[in-house]
Amino acid sequence: MNIKPLRGEIVVPGDKSISHRSIMFSALAEGTSEITDFLSGADCLSTIDCFRRMGIDINLEQNHVLVHGNGLDGLKAPNQILDAGNSGTTVRLLSGILAGQQFASQITGDASIQKRPMNRIIEPLSKMHAAIQSDRANGCAPLSISPSQLRGITYHSPVASAQVKSCVLLAGMYANSPTTVIEPALSRNHTELMLSGFGAEITSHNFTATINPRPKLHAMKIQVPGDISSAAYFIAAALLIPNSEVLIKNVGLNPTRDGIIKVAQSMNGDIRFQNKRIVSGEPVCDLLVKHSNLKAANIGGTDLIPTLIDEIPIIAVMACFAQGTTVIKDAQELKVKESNRIDAMCLNLNRMGAQITPTDDGMIIEGGKPLHASSLVTTHNDHRTAMAMTIAGLAIGTKNPLDNSDCVFVSYPNFFDDLHQLLQ
Ligand code: S3P
Repeated sequence: MNIKPLRGEIVVPGDKSISHRSIMFSALAEGTSEITDFLSGADCLSTIDCFRRMGIDINLEQNHVLVHGNGLDGLKAPNQILDAGNSGTTVRLLSGILAGQQFASQITGDASIQKRPMNRIIEPLSKMHAAIQSDRANGCAPLSISPSQLRGITYHSPVASAQVKSCVLLAGMYANSPTTVIEPALSRNHTELMLSGFGAEITSHNFTATINPRPKLHAMKIQVPGDISSAAYFIAAALLIPNSEVLIKNVGLNPTRDGIIKVAQSMNGDIRFQNKRIVSGEPVCDLLVKHSNLKAANIGGTDLIPTLIDEIPIIAVMACFAQGTTVIKDAQELKVKESNRIDAMCLNLNRMGAQITPTDDGMIIEGGKPLHASSLVTTHNDHRTAMAMTIAGLAIGTKNPLDNSDCVFVSYPNFFDDLHQLLQ
């Protein structure tokens, strides 16, 4: 079969996690913040919508944003329930902020959000004396939050989750004493990096982060680095498809996010770093990726998994084409993402003839089985499944039919355009 190589260069869109935070922290700062290379994906637009509903003036043009912040106490009561859409980051981080407000609020999201676990934030926020409850008493959104005086706590989080950590630290800005979060492993640290840039007193060491209450946040200029989670699809495609060579420019390489690179290299992937630099306090570089004959890997460990948790769907695709058996473990968090990604990837890749067995905390993948086109990809409206399964099809020279291709708008609105550009 004649499989077209990927050649040329792309600039992946802005980082989703950093884009969310840039809006939230700018809204709570005094003055006008300017954000460039913002990710105008559906999730981050949900965050903008929530803050507009709380009186924040936000101008968005293309990927350029001006946020006119009103200070720590400058939000207004929303006149309707806040809608986070498909975005877990919006619900969880915003709940931490809402817990500290002098007004009551409600927040919810789409069908997927209404199934995702919120007790992981309700519990620590309640320990801080927040008045937060799950409206249906099922530990999920919609959540109702009433005003209360928060107290600082030391929270031992049972999960390495940046959403939980950030939620508690943001609530900590409104507490009466310092708040500390201790994680079992270090989750992405964009909140700590960016919030201290805005002027918060925040210290972090190993798995512990502490914030002092009542910071005075000042407006900033932020350039959002490219999203390594979006780059991951093109890293995989270039590695898998013979004769490919792709330069992926402006990729954020924060060490709490770069597990995909380490794993791809351990699988024999040819990835080179060019033009390493720091952008808005985050390490960034260009990645030159060339086709490689991949071999299987053992992927696990509580330190590694949080650094590539969102990339496991595409890593599973890579493993199908690698020689040998890949074992992914310690990744039970995959079950509570936008969909159950263990089940979704096993179902969809097995439909193509792959041999994958789901486990309680990951999957076992026998690489090198001959794959055929999928009859239908069941995305469960999950952007990462849609993009990973598109690359799986491309790697055998076919176009996998997706039951919903629009879900890529959540994190990568131009995904299909960028792909076609590299296939020219
Ligand atoms: C995110 C944290 C991660 C990640 C999600 C974005 C963030 O979730 O999977 O896509 O922006 O803080 P968890 O905190 O649930 O691990």
